[in-house]
Amino acid sequence: MAGSGRLRPVAESQFFCRLLIAFLLLPTSSRAQFQNGTSKFEQKLQKGEEQLREEIQSHDDVKEYFFPEKLFADIDIYRTEIPLSQDFTIGVMVNPCGDNSTGSPDTWLGYDCCMERFGDGEYGYLNNDAMKTMDLVYPLYRAARSDPPIPASSDEIFENINLVDDRGGQKSMLTSRRADDEIVVDEECKGIHDPHPYCMGVRLRKKIYSQMAACTDTNETVNAMLECYTPDGVRSKHCMQVSYTQSAFVHICGQEFADDPHCGTFLEIHRLNGSPDDPEEILISETKLLTRETSGMMTTTIPLFYRFDPTKILCEFKETVIRVGTMVLINEQAPACCCPAVYNTLNREGRFMCPNKPGTAHGPFADTVDTLEEEIARDASRGNYPFCPEMGEKEDLMACSKQASSGFSQDTRIENQGGQFGTQMRHYSTPCGHLNLTTHATKGYGWTSPDLKRSYNERCSYFPSCGKLDSGKTTCVGGDDKFTFAGYIGKVTSIPANLDDPNGIYTVTFNDGRTSYNFLLSDLEMQEPDYNYELWYVQRTLYDLVIQQRKPFKVISPKCTYDVVNQRYFPYAQLDAKGEPMNQGDGGFDGKIEAPDYTDGEVFYEAGGPP
Ligand SMILES: *[C@@H]1O[C@H](CO)[C@@H](O)[C@H](O)[C@H]1NC(C)=O
Ligand SMILES: *[C@@H]1O[C@H](CO)[C@@H](O)[C@H](O)[C@H]1NC(C)=O
Ligand SMILES: *[C@@H]1O[C@H](CO)[C@@H](O)[C@H](O)[C@H]1NC(C)=O
Ligand SMILES: *[C@@H]1O[C@H](CO)[C@@H](O)[C@H](O)[C@H]1NC(C)=O
Repeated sequence: MAGSGRLRPVAESQFFCRLLIAFLLLPTSSRAQFQNGTSKFEQKLQKGEEQLREEIQSHDDVKEYFFPEKLFADIDIYRTEIPLSQDFTIGVMVNPCGDNSTGSPDTWLGYDCCMERFGDGEYGYLNNDAMKTMDLVYPLYRAARSDPPIPASSDEIFENINLVDDRGGQKSMLTSRRADDEIVVDEECKGIHDPHPYCMGVRLRKKIYSQMAACTDTNETVNAMLECYTPDGVRSKHCMQVSYTQSAFVHICGQEFADDPHCGTFLEIHRLNGSPDDPEEILISETKLLTRETSGMMTTTIPLFYRFDPTKILCEFKETVIRVGTMVLINEQAPACCCPAVYNTLNREGRFMCPNKPGTAHGPFADTVDTLEEEIARDASRGNYPFCPEMGEKEDLMACSKQASSGFSQDTRIENQGGQFGTQMRHYSTPCGHLNLTTHATKGYGWTSPDLKRSYNERCSYFPSCGKLDSGKTTCVGGDDKFTFAGYIGKVTSIPANLDDPNGIYTVTFNDGRTSYNFLLSDLEMQEPDYNYELWYVQRTLYDLVIQQRKPFKVISPKCTYDVVNQRYFPYAQLDAKGEPMNQGDGGFDGKIEAPDYTDGEVFYEAGGPP
């Protein structure tokens, strides 16, 4: 067809092309009457394109593509979608060529050591022998839940670690790119592991080889005072190199979106759970990725300024006071409860928790069903006994599965029971009975319910169907089951108004805010992660921000600036006029910071900062 031949160069896509043909063929629009190549022809063609563009943009179906901000009130919303490894993988490494803190020229790998070549990170967990020599023991209440490996410091010798890759998978020494450890003389060493874990014999110790392999991860030693180079050798202050790779095309925006800050792939610095100053979503620093195709690792740099302020840099930040958003471990002191016996799949009787989220999470540990996949999974699991009732989003329920009494017709018997919500064969589920203070013929005087085998002195503060484990006891007896949050990690959702009140209530959620439970400060232990910042690999689309990878790293220098007004450390180091970090206090982060004695506040500005 002659028409399509004429149109080919302007067609941007098949869709566009078809619409253009349709448009130019409309009876109302005049057909091109000018010869190809003449200026009149070009003008006509350009006009036609403009009209078409307007036409398309005004169309309801495609409006959201051109004007997403009109459809979505807030497009600055983060959502996490880590790609499945069978689809593609993303790798991120920090300071892959090391930094120049040692400054020795013979260990320097060059600023382009990690461009278009293979690279990976190697990490170690302390092995059992090392744990024994180091006198490390797992906290008991943690060990009961899982066996969390303890990360070794990055310079731990091979003898003491189990080598893993960035997903925690076991790595063989054969594939390690790390050089063998050095053996050096150490007068303190008396034998293997004696007295230090690194001792390897009389007067001998092992030590990590000073030169690291090019293109490896050094995410534990970031120093925000140092300079860095781009792979092309351009030097800047207060920054670090970052390497990335993606086994699929990187989402790079072109044409009219090339400079759109909401389009493309970015590396962003955030702080997990934020800080008292800023929430987690606050962008601390960013760098835009510019290569669509990666073959091996690509290296770029990211500034280490705090929120783009050239007078503030990242620092060795560690929180010491529990606030809303802090992750806490519930310790052994937290009250434990005695609840009806756990559901038994053989006789189909016992208590279970609702909501019952497919997977493993139930009750207080089940977060909101908020994605389509989760909804589908929930619908598919609806037919599985024991049933949970339709219930409010913001509640947890302890339910009991029971057998209908045989003396009655099954249906009448179940209907006579208040609050039942599902039956299967002769079994039905119903909320477990609430406790009443009664004198029971066999259980004696106390708080009990028909579902409990014993009476208790007090009610459980978490669930109205359980009694509180009597003080001094560690287990429930008589067939009741113990329930405790000890060993679980949750997030603080509220703190008492008066922090000095020993009976002040902290509420903690175990399901990302769906429901919360009450604890005292003495029941909680702060869970600060081993790192203080995270690099997020974010795909910015016109609708939202998709976190595709999170890479923790640890800034170890400089120390943070002390905030005299709020008596705590800022999450950054304030630089004075000479570029030196100010007022770093005693730098002690032991959880009991004594306010330094700044008698009249003048010390704060002594270093030459703003008045
Ligand atoms: C105009 O002519 C050029 C050169 O012959 C040809 O490549 C192009 O496809 C023509 N344009 C249209 C719109 O037909
Ligand atoms: C290390 O940093 C210092 C000062 O920041 C600079 O003068 C020196 O050239 C750097 N060395 C290397 C190898 O980058
Ligand atoms: C407990 O007491 C409440 C109110 O006194 C009553 O409504 C409820 O039926 C009692 N429950 C049991 C299991 O006895
Ligand atoms: C270093 O990176 C590994 C893998 O990404 C991570 O598991 C570890 O927590 C990081 N360490 C620090 C101190 O950030």
